Amino acid sequence: MIVVPGPSSPKVGERVAQIIGAKKVGVDYKNFPDGESYIRLTEVVKGEEVVLVHTTYPQPDKRVLELLLLINALKDLGATKVKVVVPYMAYSRQDTRFRDGEAVSINTIFRLIEAAGADEFYTVDIHKEFSLGEFKIKAKNLYATEVIAEYLKGMGLHEPYILSPDKGALDIARRIGKRLGTEYGNFEKARDRTTGAITVKGDRVDARERDVVITDDLISTGGTIANACRILKEGGARRVIAVCSHPLLVAGAYERMKGAGLDEVLGTDTVDSEVSKISVAPLIAKEFV
Ligand code: R5P
Repeated sequence: MIVVPGPSSPKVGERVAQIIGAKKVGVDYKNFPDGESYIRLTEVVKGEEVVLVHTTYPQPDKRVLELLLLINALKDLGATKVKVVVPYMAYSRQDTRFRDGEAVSINTIFRLIEAAGADEFYTVDIHKEFSLGEFKIKAKNLYATEVIAEYLKGMGLHEPYILSPDKGALDIARRIGKRLGTEYGNFEKARDRTTGAITVKGDRVDARERDVVITDDLISTGGTIANACRILKEGGARRVIAVCSHPLLVAGAYERMKGAGLDEVLGTDTVDSEVSKISVAPLIAKEFV
């Protein structure tokens, strides 16, 4: 078995190769002056079983295209199996036709990944697991809660409460809460599908003098976390920490959350960011030993 770290996941791909003791094969990549992507495998892959690790952020459109080029090149070049690992799967929030006429983007992308030649598909904390049902090949969601909970255990939290900012991420809070043996629960969030404006309600959680850990699958603009944090601080929380699997942190997100009184932001390395302190490499590697 060989590991190919795609251009967007050099560090995680390398760590996975180290952990499973597999050879790493590099990728040459560049952009043509007109913006097109160029991909080249630097060694022979014929006859090999390949684990391809390639995340889809930043620049999700470009990363998705690179992913398709990589899968198809590996197949064309004679790899016997291509096991695709996408640590952060972009577009997974568009898993439903929320408004008439919308594209169900994640379904389109999954069909393309399969058509390109993927034999197996793995991702970490996909927004909703049901979207993996679009695949006919083996498709598996890995839970970052395992590595996140281990990290939180070492933080010396005071009477921790694990909070999901909405019902959608309650499963994440539940899994972490169970691993830590602490209370967990959720706020209620509503998003205007046209303007994107968020409102968060949280009258059922008593945060007084507690360290509250807000958990979510991803942080994009930081609006969800900022709104939840304000409510918690007004409710007397001692410390508020946000932890997510995918710290996308678009421009201004960090400042928005800090402005709401957030004490700390943590994320995994499914995408690279200044808060990506928790590695998912051991979690991924476990699938291939
Ligand atoms: C949505 O349901 C997701 O789980 C996240 O809560 C959301 O996408 C975070 O976005 P933002 O950081 O822009 O509020």
